[in-house]
Amino acid sequence: MGSNGDSIQRFIKYETFDHIRLWVGNAKQAASFYCTRLGFKPYAYSGLETGSREVVSHVVRNKDAIFVFQSALYPGNAEMGDFLTLHGDGVRDIAFAADDAEKCYRSAVERGATPVKEPWTETDKYGSVKMATISLYNGTNHTFVQRNGYSGFFLPNFTKAEPDPLLEILPDISINYVDHCVSNQPDNKMVEVCDKYEKILDFHRFWSVDDKDIHTKYSSLRSIVMANEEENVKLPINEPAVGLRKSQIEEFIDHYGGPGIQHIALNCDNIIEIIKNLRSRGAEFLPTPKSYYDSLRKKLKDPSLKMNYEIAEDLNDLEKLSILVDYDQNGYLLQIFTKPLQDRPTLFIEFIQRRNHNGFGAGNFKSLFESIKREQELRGNL
Ligand SMILES: [Fe+2]
Repeated sequence: MGSNGDSIQRFIKYETFDHIRLWVGNAKQAASFYCTRLGFKPYAYSGLETGSREVVSHVVRNKDAIFVFQSALYPGNAEMGDFLTLHGDGVRDIAFAADDAEKCYRSAVERGATPVKEPWTETDKYGSVKMATISLYNGTNHTFVQRNGYSGFFLPNFTKAEPDPLLEILPDISINYVDHCVSNQPDNKMVEVCDKYEKILDFHRFWSVDDKDIHTKYSSLRSIVMANEEENVKLPINEPAVGLRKSQIEEFIDHYGGPGIQHIALNCDNIIEIIKNLRSRGAEFLPTPKSYYDSLRKKLKDPSLKMNYEIAEDLNDLEKLSILVDYDQNGYLLQIFTKPLQDRPTLFIEFIQRRNHNGFGAGNFKSLFESIKREQELRGNL
């Protein structure tokens, strides 16, 4: 890296996740599903009525987690059409809040990112937002969003979304923010993609597991978690590892037609109440075998663990709801995974509550895989 590159590098600041953009066959209905089933609320809209002639956007929000669902409004949108033919509904863009979109873009492209859209500015009476888009691997983009204190609904030329009266009679779901976004990569691509995040976007390796940690007879994976400097943007990158049968990573790649976002984790407090309420909304979660809780109870009593805390939640409640626990000496996390949110077994959501634990649930991967394996079996994909 030359001195010019170094001076650019210091200016780059990815403050946090800004929003997640999904391309879907029917944005209106997808947004409604994420609201009624998963606890988001309508936030903003742009479409024919607001002067957006080509693409409609339904934006939903739960505190700092913002999802944008987009569909084409006319025939012949080859970019969106090709995406849907190949991937089905999926994540097109993970947007980062940035202090200088242009500098982020120039620096990333200089260091090997694929330029997708040159810096541009959108303006309305609430202010202006500058954006620029790159990609590091096929299918998923990153947009840098420089908000300049913009005070309108989501982005310029969006309008406030109509509230959904159904949501008023459903139990409340309050999550905090996007905790991490996981991508699946094909065989032997994980390290290459991680190197790109390091070299091009100044991310660093935050955490990793290999197939010795996560191995069942049928499925295993390797994973490296990439994080920005502030460690509030975390992107775990997975690849399959050799197993006897098809791994869930391979199943994803087959159905998605290449690399892409496998799950988005939403950070929350009070996961027990949230999952209770989500279940009453009809959200579907992966089941956890009873044996998981039997062995958990045993393991937590082991004095050699030297745990300096107690699990605050009642294990019976966790078991009833299929919430998983991962822990070390100093803290623990609670997590649960939805079933795929569209017909293809691709994208799903994780809910995660952290209690002094910065991991991603490696201790649960095995039990999760055994649970996913049963679902794969039902789909004839083992
Ligand atoms: Fe996760």
